[in-house]
Amino acid sequence: MNDSPARRPTWVIGNWKQHKLTAEANALADEVARRGSDHVRVGVAPTHLTLAGVATTIADRPVTVFGQTCGLHDTGAFTGDVGPQMLVDVGAGGVLLGHSERREMAHETSAKVAAKAALALGAGLHTVVCVGEPLDVREAGGHEKFVTSMLLESLDGFELNDASASRLVVAYEPVWAIGTGKTATATEAGAMHEALRVALDERFSACGARIPLLYGGSVKPANAAGLFAPPFVDGFLVGGAALDARSFMDIVSITAKAHRP
Ligand code: PGA
Repeated sequence: MNDSPARRPTWVIGNWKQHKLTAEANALADEVARRGSDHVRVGVAPTHLTLAGVATTIADRPVTVFGQTCGLHDTGAFTGDVGPQMLVDVGAGGVLLGHSERREMAHETSAKVAAKAALALGAGLHTVVCVGEPLDVREAGGHEKFVTSMLLESLDGFELNDASASRLVVAYEPVWAIGTGKTATATEAGAMHEALRVALDERFSACGARIPLLYGGSVKPANAAGLFAPPFVDGFLVGGAALDARSFMDIVSITAKAHRP
């Protein structure tokens, strides 16, 4: 297993979910971009409706704007959908795929995530594939196998090259930790990240070692340092704490300080 974190960028991405009207979204993005960070790649994921305004507000500043999902096609008769090229067109540099809320509410299966991820990577987007287990799976003890299978299914059919590997990101978010105030312990997160690291290295060899693994689920300034400590945690996907510039940027600073060069 290639355990050199230097080969992987550190990301902290704020998932704003269905929050923030236009003026609020622009103001939050502006504040995040003003503070920036040297060692951490910072991203924000506003709603599709506010994404273009956010991208314009922080144009030329080092924060990547992510869509929260995208459709299965670039264009066509797909009412309500937004293709990856359309995200690029309005200034997005990335997209989140397979978030547990999308998997549950919008029936985004791993097969669909794989198809969308291939399209998104082809469009040049940083593509975050999210995976995680529900509480009953964790309690029954089958979580590592469950999440590893979910990840491999969500990347099914992929051939990575240097360019696409450098744009792919995986986020491990235990469903029971999302928005609940409960987090995995650093030991639990570290064990899962190690299992996912092994799976990525086996599946993609050298390219797999370049894919950062983020943790998500009730990350806050108070727990960020502990959760970043395990060697295979390469950053965070943050929900609730990303809605406030100060708490989000505190997480960014804590991560930057603990950054492994
Ligand atoms: P949370 O959300 O930080 O509010 O738990 C994380 C996420 O859903 O990405």
